[in-house]
Amino acid sequence: MELILSTSPAELTLDPAHQPEKTPAPNLTELTLEPVHCRPELLDACADLINEQWPRSRTSRLHSLGQSSDAFPLCLMLLSPRPTPEAAPVVVGHARLSRVLDQPQSLLVETVVVARAMRGHGFGRRLMEGLEVFARARGFRRLHLSTHDQLHFYAHLGYQLGKPVQGLVFTSRQLPATFLSAFSRNPSPQPPCKASNLIAQVAPRGPQGPTLPPPPPLPELLTTSPLPPAGPLSQSLMETQYQDLRGCPIFWMEKDI
Ligand SMILES: CC(C)(COP(=O)(O)OP(=O)(O)OC[C@H]1O[C@@H](n2cnc3c(N)ncnc32)[C@H](O)[C@@H]1OP(=O)(O)O)[C@@H](O)C(=O)NCCC(=O)NCCS
Repeated sequence: MELILSTSPAELTLDPAHQPEKTPAPNLTELTLEPVHCRPELLDACADLINEQWPRSRTSRLHSLGQSSDAFPLCLMLLSPRPTPEAAPVVVGHARLSRVLDQPQSLLVETVVVARAMRGHGFGRRLMEGLEVFARARGFRRLHLSTHDQLHFYAHLGYQLGKPVQGLVFTSRQLPATFLSAFSRNPSPQPPCKASNLIAQVAPRGPQGPTLPPPPPLPELLTTSPLPPAGPLSQSLMETQYQDLRGCPIFWMEKDI
């Protein structure tokens, strides 16, 4: 594995080929949120960041990140500005957004992670608030997620306990082009991957905000499939009845944005 962890909490050192050796904690106000597929030169650094938390083969991780697109799933990176003019921006955090079965105005948030050496400095909040702005600007109104052990972090950021949802993950190799075309429209008034639109500013928004078009509808094929039955299960911040595929307790949470 290519990871080398720094001994200093103020430094993040990943693969030296992709990250600077010494990275001072970036200024919160300088951070930007950008889709992975718009910054392919940072794919390796992003894979390292995620693998630092959830080790997996680099090939598999890069493949997963390589599926990011404006049509979802979409991987976002929290970036700090380049420390020197020659250096690449530092990948501070990552989150993946997917469409949700039967809920056209929802997104499922997964693989939320901040670089280990940079935790506890507000970057997780900035990542989550940034992706809320990003999702809302594209017409989505609700975020869903599941967590084993970070429910208090998410509750602190306004997430409430919710029901399980089914994220939609597919590639063009699995579905016909006509089917995918329903997802390929950009629901926001902004064109994708233009420099001026890449940066999700984490600015406070008013209570109403501008009126934005809703996201494109989900294809009928998907909206007719029933969700896995939630049953009479219940959960509290102390206890959950839900389990992941391995049988581990899992908390489902959601937030209106
Ligand atoms: C969870 C994680 C993303 C949080 O990132 P972070 O940068 O450490 O969090 P922040 O410093 O931005 O914390 C934001 C706020 O949440 C609070 N907070 C952070 N972790 C918390 C926790 N476990 N419980 C309660 N509050 C928490 C902080 O006190 C802070 O509050 P404030 O903004 O009011 O001062 C990070 O710890 C991480 O990457 N963990 C490993 C991967 C992981 O578990 N991801 C979640 C998968 S579901």
